[in-house]
Amino acid sequence: MNGENKCINQTNPYLPEAARIVRTYPLTEDVKYFQVRLVDMEKAISFKYSPGQFAMISVLGAGEAPFSISSTPSRPSLLEFCIRKAGTVTNAIFKLKENDHIGIRGPYGNGFPIESMHGKDIIIVMGGLGAAPLRSVLLYCLDNRDLFGRVALLHGAKRPAEMIFREEFFALKERKDLECYLTVDADDTGKWKENIGVVTTLFPQLKDINPSKTFAIVCGPPVMYKFVLKELIKLNIPKNQILMTLERRMKCGVGKCGHCAIDYIYTCIDGPVFTYWDVIHMKELI
Ligand SMILES: Cc1cc2nc3c(=O)[nH]c(=O)nc-3n(C[C@H](O)[C@H](O)[C@H](O)COP(=O)(O)OP(=O)(O)OC[C@H]3O[C@@H](n4cnc5c(N)ncnc54)[C@H](O)[C@@H]3O)c2cc1C
Ligand code: FES
Repeated sequence: MNGENKCINQTNPYLPEAARIVRTYPLTEDVKYFQVRLVDMEKAISFKYSPGQFAMISVLGAGEAPFSISSTPSRPSLLEFCIRKAGTVTNAIFKLKENDHIGIRGPYGNGFPIESMHGKDIIIVMGGLGAAPLRSVLLYCLDNRDLFGRVALLHGAKRPAEMIFREEFFALKERKDLECYLTVDADDTGKWKENIGVVTTLFPQLKDINPSKTFAIVCGPPVMYKFVLKELIKLNIPKNQILMTLERRMKCGVGKCGHCAIDYIYTCIDGPVFTYWDVIHMKELI
């Protein structure tokens, strides 16, 4: 579906393009926001991607790793990422400051089937760092509000300080054209005014769902899927309209090395977005 979202480097797909960090700040204790722009302006403009796609980010001397694009293609030229400190590459990225350079190649992966979602109601369920890829599709729906029916967001974090883009989501609660429900597993501040409980405790807020007209999108920690999927099935949303993004270790990002294989599927080119229908037919489940 993303035939036009071609990798920016057509001659050598492994060659990263230089990008400058325009803005960076901490989102939580171990997650940082990065806004970057490709140095070559022509390439910055021609970097076309879909919500749900990812890019390989590299740091000289440290290596490269895949990261979801958190920005929306409806706001072009600048790319946004939320990166959690995990190991070698992410530690190196965390040391970088505004105006420092990174390498970017991509965009990769299938992304969400946006055109099939036109005219449909959208339920977005995100937990923890799952907000990184799903913020892209959420902002896309809001920027193209007439193309979609109802849009509902259920967002959960462990504690208030761990909710990434917390202020942005609070601001979105003011919108009349978005149902925005936020929750934390536990409030250690005494100031949290929203729901307390795991993300599935938000499902009773969703009233009068028209299942055949609804797409549900899920991304979060592995433990979340089982419980969220159960709720979505209870709502009778068809399995081919439940979408989720899966993470696997990746090296090449372009379907050559086999690092990301699940059965006969390469997560980097066949995914990272899969339907629930796809996933129940894979031997190695999430
Ligand atoms: C399609 C895709 C999108 C992603 N989007 C994001 C994103 O938006 N933000 C973000 O912070 N991270 C994202 N990740 C995960 C990110 O790529 C890894 O955290 C990164 O590779 C870690 O690299 P590192 O060199 O810092 O850690 P390493 O030194 O390679 O590893 C540190 C530790 O993390 C484990 N680990 C590394 N990668 C993974 C993985 N993919 N799954 C499970 N365990 C892993 C290792 O086993 C090790 O224990 C995404 C991964 C994929 C496949
Ligand atoms: S990462 Fe190399 S085949 Fe998918």
